[in-house]
Amino acid sequence: MKKNTSLFRKKTVDQILNDANSREHGGLARILGVRDLVSLGIAAIVGAGIFSTIGLASYNGGPAVSLLFIFTAIACVFTALSYAQFASTVPVSGSAYTYAYVAFGELFAWIIGWALILEYAVSNMVVAISWSEYFTSMLKGFGIVLPGWLTMNPVAASESFQKLQSEGVAALTTYEKMAALAFETAPRLGDIPIIFNLPAGLVTLLVTALVYVGIRESRTASNIMVILKVGVVLLVIFAGAFYVKPENWSPFAPNGMKGVLSGVAAVFFAFIGFDSISTTAEECKDPQRDMPKAMIYCLIICTVLYVLITLVLTGMVNYKELKVSDPLAFVFQKNGLDFMAGVISVSSVIAITSALLVYQLGQPRIWMTMSRDGLLWKKFAKIHPKYQTPSFATIVTGLVVGIPALFFKMDFFVDLTSVGTFFAFILVCGGVLYLDHTGISERSKFRVPYVNGNFLVGFGLLAAIAGIIFYGQNVIVEWQGLSVGEIFEHKLLTIIFWITWITLSVMSFKYNFSLLPVMGILTNLYLMTELGASNWFIFVIWLAIGLVIYFSYGYKKSKLAQGE
Ligand code: ALA
Repeated sequence: MKKNTSLFRKKTVDQILNDANSREHGGLARILGVRDLVSLGIAAIVGAGIFSTIGLASYNGGPAVSLLFIFTAIACVFTALSYAQFASTVPVSGSAYTYAYVAFGELFAWIIGWALILEYAVSNMVVAISWSEYFTSMLKGFGIVLPGWLTMNPVAASESFQKLQSEGVAALTTYEKMAALAFETAPRLGDIPIIFNLPAGLVTLLVTALVYVGIRESRTASNIMVILKVGVVLLVIFAGAFYVKPENWSPFAPNGMKGVLSGVAAVFFAFIGFDSISTTAEECKDPQRDMPKAMIYCLIICTVLYVLITLVLTGMVNYKELKVSDPLAFVFQKNGLDFMAGVISVSSVIAITSALLVYQLGQPRIWMTMSRDGLLWKKFAKIHPKYQTPSFATIVTGLVVGIPALFFKMDFFVDLTSVGTFFAFILVCGGVLYLDHTGISERSKFRVPYVNGNFLVGFGLLAAIAGIIFYGQNVIVEWQGLSVGEIFEHKLLTIIFWITWITLSVMSFKYNFSLLPVMGILTNLYLMTELGASNWFIFVIWLAIGLVIYFSYGYKKSKLAQGE
């Protein structure tokens, strides 16, 4: 057969469906309904975001972060609809990676698969670190205090120690005091203090071992975990409401818009996971009806919980106190409610373990799909003869997640996960425009509700510009004060955003683009620009490494290249 050397060689929908049917597990049982899907979604969504990173976001933005949750949820709704359309068109696992193979071709599929490592493996580093924080706090509740140097990352410890020396103990938050103490008391190898996050590494090891031997979240187990998770969150909301001091909500946005938006990564992180529902499309009773419903329900439930919990946390203590990784337990401790703090710690440890499990299961399976397509080494698709799990890929996932979790700071991984996931979301929204344009949408059993964007995208652009001219004097003054060089240096991401909007306005006019996916692209891109240039820079390096791997392996070995 003739070799296909195009970088954009595509899989057709029929090819993907045939592949899925020809595999042994092609005909999976169609048993999942809306309730199951919502439960699976919440199992993946509710994790370190609500249990941990919400603390950092509230510290930066104050109570107004609750509004950021609403805005971010709206961006996610547009994306969820796009995912639902793809899932009903190509109902196979592989998620955004498979969708990109259909819409944009192999190079983009690879790039997405590579970016999904950020959404699954890197996000799980955050979840593992968050687990460790709650675990340590739970042990404390039982009177067992692990030495700080065994439960801390070396970066935070050394930064806090430096801050202690330069600014004095009064300038340190509770967490920073613990970190500085860990630095001082750590054993030393020569001059180097030995500091690492042992529980985070250990829990990753244990969960990976479970996943390796084939634990599957059965419907019942998943439902119980979800009830527990939502239960803890509701407990915090209802019990915490009695300890809210409304004066803590004023000022509502102490650091202005800038402070609120600096929480984008953390807030977005808390929503990541709703897309994982799409991987069960083959097991849904009625994917085209239930998939979009389930994703939207998940987003609504989580948004309500997140908004309420942000208000409770920032109402119970001053927002400045919230720079901790176990805020849900911390606020109760701070109010002298040690018993409640203990209950929350114990339940959180169990709840977060389930999130860890979901992603630890997901990552090897994405690698397995990529390996089956010939884009990764064959070993990644190797199935364990006894346990019937992708054994090699699972072990690699364990190492990739567990080792960094020992040594790095949570915030770094939160940013990286968010930037990669925004990127994947934007491509999925863009993919729907492609499906419409090529007529593949005709075969989609669920379609993103169509509103013609031909004029509306451009009108929106003009309205935004008018808004800035009439109400955004501070923005204009800020830009006027910058030289061309400075604009390039500090505003490049904003420029990319506006250029994209202009381009989409023209294309929408020309091709009658569907409005909702376009809004998905713009809202996600806007939030992504708020992540800051350094995150984009690291992401670009990440992509570059991915491209090197693709060109040295996948490009040649791909099944499509071989004409299979
Ligand atoms: N949304 C997931 C979590 O918060 C990634 O853990």
